[in-house]
Amino acid sequence: MGSAVTVQSIGPAAAAETTLRAAAAKAGLFFGVAASPGRLSSIVGQEFNQLTPENDMKPSTIATSSGGLQNTGNADTLVNYAQTNNMLVRGHTLVWHSQAGALQGANQATLNTFIGNALNRWGNRIAYWDVVNEALDDNNTGNRRSQWPHTLNRDANGDGDLFDTGDTDVIRDSFIRAKQVVQAGGLTTKLCINDYDVEGLTVRGGVQNRKANALYEIVRNYRQYIDCVGFQAHFNDNPNSIITDDLQANIQRFADLGVEVHLTELDIDDDLSNNDIGAGQAENYRKVVRACLNVAKCTGITVWGIADSESWRSSERGLLFTGGSGNYQKKAAYHAVLDELNKGRDVSTDPTSPGTPPTPSASPSVTPSVPPTTPPNPTTGCSATVSLNSWTGGFVATVRVTAGTAPINGWTVGIALPSGATVTNSWNANRTGTSGTVQFSNVSYNGSVNAGQYTEFGFQGSGTATGLTPVCTAS
Ligand code: G3I
Repeated sequence: MGSAVTVQSIGPAAAAETTLRAAAAKAGLFFGVAASPGRLSSIVGQEFNQLTPENDMKPSTIATSSGGLQNTGNADTLVNYAQTNNMLVRGHTLVWHSQAGALQGANQATLNTFIGNALNRWGNRIAYWDVVNEALDDNNTGNRRSQWPHTLNRDANGDGDLFDTGDTDVIRDSFIRAKQVVQAGGLTTKLCINDYDVEGLTVRGGVQNRKANALYEIVRNYRQYIDCVGFQAHFNDNPNSIITDDLQANIQRFADLGVEVHLTELDIDDDLSNNDIGAGQAENYRKVVRACLNVAKCTGITVWGIADSESWRSSERGLLFTGGSGNYQKKAAYHAVLDELNKGRDVSTDPTSPGTPPTPSASPSVTPSVPPTTPPNPTTGCSATVSLNSWTGGFVATVRVTAGTAPINGWTVGIALPSGATVTNSWNANRTGTSGTVQFSNVSYNGSVNAGQYTEFGFQGSGTATGLTPVCTAS
């Protein structure tokens, strides 16, 4: 079984690999597939180096009503297969409103029992677990789901969020339990939150993706327990499920929190290429894979099945192979993905990358601007620099606030936006205004910065933002 993936960039001259797993490994990420024991044909081990049980580790299969384990045979078959074929395993999934089986309606204590049993059952044989799956509502409301297990939540002070002392939150409490189990057992298993329709910063029509923003807030607030974020990436023509040009920027936003990001259940409906499963669909795959490759902490992609005919949504023809029952033919999308993986990463715009040079042959789907760095202003006790990810009609700015030679206890950053540029969303800062000179100030948890240290906030905007000159004032 493989160990945790090491992030790296590759140089341009490497010979092209001929399998997805080899090309991905060279680029420093895994490329996986969802499977069940009946679908373990040789192609699984040949092409993929990560495996997610499509259904066999869900509570409906393996949980008893008291949080014990049962019927683990299929799950064991998959884990053993992965180990034999040197593949990572993603456990899917522990806490979910759907396919809950005997756990349906359980209280937090029982969920915690189940979490402990499942994590300990497979230990380090599972590299990543989806601890909480699909916690957020449909239709871009930005709300939690309203059905069990989210009915276990309690907003003690009625302020509309679940982040305060006295609140109970099934997401937080499940992750706390999972983290305890990992630490007590000395496990290396990483703990993930997984959801769909969270892939872009925006949805159709440029409307901000509230579901993605809600997920972002959860990860930011519970960062100490959460190691990784899964974007399911079931792309289709639902307005909230399309491929947007800001996919890379959204991956980057989460990566900036320090978590790994994975595309966990990738398939791309042929509706997004006018029913073309040739060049059109291949181009969509290229865009998505490239967006991941361009962010150093995007460390894995998993497709949700091998062949169109065997997919949960077979009519969408959204996978990389045709054929079935062990006899598979590569689609244009397969060749496009292999080609992108072989080009390697281009993380030149990724502030979290360790600074490896970009791969010249790569063609990013998001056009990076030159990261402008504004000279620090030493007289105000803090300085600010900004780096930009831009695309036609929009941008994401990441602003770094650095304390001078003395600690600071608060900060304000003023940024004059060019005419036509408007802020649509921001994070890790309070904000005044959306255009002209916009003021950002610290929130409760990032105002104190030690001498020479820094904190970061970000914002998204429409229009064009060039030549931004942030002015930092410390308090
Ligand atoms: O195996 C039985 C078969 O014996 C029976 O004849 C047949 C009759 O309907 O059902 C078969 O089980 C089906 C199972 O897939 C295996 O194919 C279930 O009905 C069906 O509900 C189940 O669907 C799964 C679905 O989750 C359930 O929510 C899909 O395979 C699986 O791909 C899908 O995966 C989810 C992820 O877990 C979370 N994200 C979304 C993704 C797609 O919905």
